[in-house]
Amino acid sequence: MKGWRAPRETVVLITGCSSGIGLGLAVRLASDLSRRFKVYATMRDLAKKERLLASVRGCHAGTLEILQLDVTDPLSLAAAAQQVLEQHVDVLVCNAGVGLMGPLETCSHQAMKTIFDVNVFGTIGTIQAFLPGMKRRKAGKIIVSSSVGALQGIPFNAVYCASKFAVEGLCESLAVTLQQFNVHVTLIECGPVNTSFLANLQSTAAEGSALQGLDPQTRALYSQYLQHCQSLFHDVAQDTEEVLQVFLEAICAPCPPLRSFTTQFFMPLARLKLTSPDGSEYVRAMHKFVFSAGEAQVKQPPHCP
Ligand SMILES: NC(=O)c1ccc[n+]([C@@H]2O[C@H](COP(=O)([O-])OP(=O)(O)OC[C@H]3O[C@@H](n4cnc5c(N)ncnc54)[C@H](OP(=O)(O)O)[C@@H]3O)[C@@H](O)[C@H]2O)c1
Repeated sequence: MKGWRAPRETVVLITGCSSGIGLGLAVRLASDLSRRFKVYATMRDLAKKERLLASVRGCHAGTLEILQLDVTDPLSLAAAAQQVLEQHVDVLVCNAGVGLMGPLETCSHQAMKTIFDVNVFGTIGTIQAFLPGMKRRKAGKIIVSSSVGALQGIPFNAVYCASKFAVEGLCESLAVTLQQFNVHVTLIECGPVNTSFLANLQSTAAEGSALQGLDPQTRALYSQYLQHCQSLFHDVAQDTEEVLQVFLEAICAPCPPLRSFTTQFFMPLARLKLTSPDGSEYVRAMHKFVFSAGEAQVKQPPHCP
């Protein structure tokens, strides 16, 4: 038909695609039957690209490109932005992230710095690299892999939660001005997801020497927490596919909301922020959920007054 042009595919750039949510999302979008997406799957270490390549074997030619991108390295960010055709990204998925678990006294300065470098400054740097293009075109979506730990403190995850809380503040602030540019910011609030996240996070070993200098009460609480965490991931963790659906909805919605939740499980705890703004109910309820609820109760959403 004269004058008709095929609609351009949606260009999606994702960070942290060597495993987990990033890898799954890249595969899902690149394999889309209607070829609606062109995916730039990025990872800091291209030596890890085999898993992604194996997962997309047989998918349509031209829907996937793999780029090196370490979100903590400004040169790597600039180089990746240069390699994206016309530096045009419709949807930016800031997914790269790392965890840190353990009593605060055992967290080294270097470990805490790494968490903030990746989760906070890495996310900021990635957004800075692609935001000017979105503003110029007056169109874009920024989607961030966030966490229930970004909205509520989790025992022995203080530094991880601090980093994710920071990203919530960043995104909520940006969302207010970016609506003028038709750029939508969405935080995908994930509960536990069955990925390599737990295996990849930096944690204080239950029997490790870092714990030896600590008071017995903290050691006992940490050991209780580790059991709780194991049960939680065993009983409640979502499959990656289930979580990807929420990312997909945000990518495809014309005006996605600021927050999308992959699970309702932790809602009773989240609501306490509004019903008990001084925080005391939350502290009590979370303590009960982690340290007082029996193993079987982990399967039930936390009971809140
Ligand atoms: N799984 C969960 O339970 C859960 C819950 C809530 C939120 N989240 C969030 O979801 C996101 C994805 O986690 P996941 O569950 O898919 O875990 P994952 O499998 O460990 O994936 C994390 C990804 O981030 C990448 N990464 C780490 N540092 C990076 C850097 N400097 N530059 C670029 N990429 C980097 C990792 O690459 P390497 O392989 O090179 O390390 C990996 O590809 C994270 O932001 C996490 O906080 C996960």
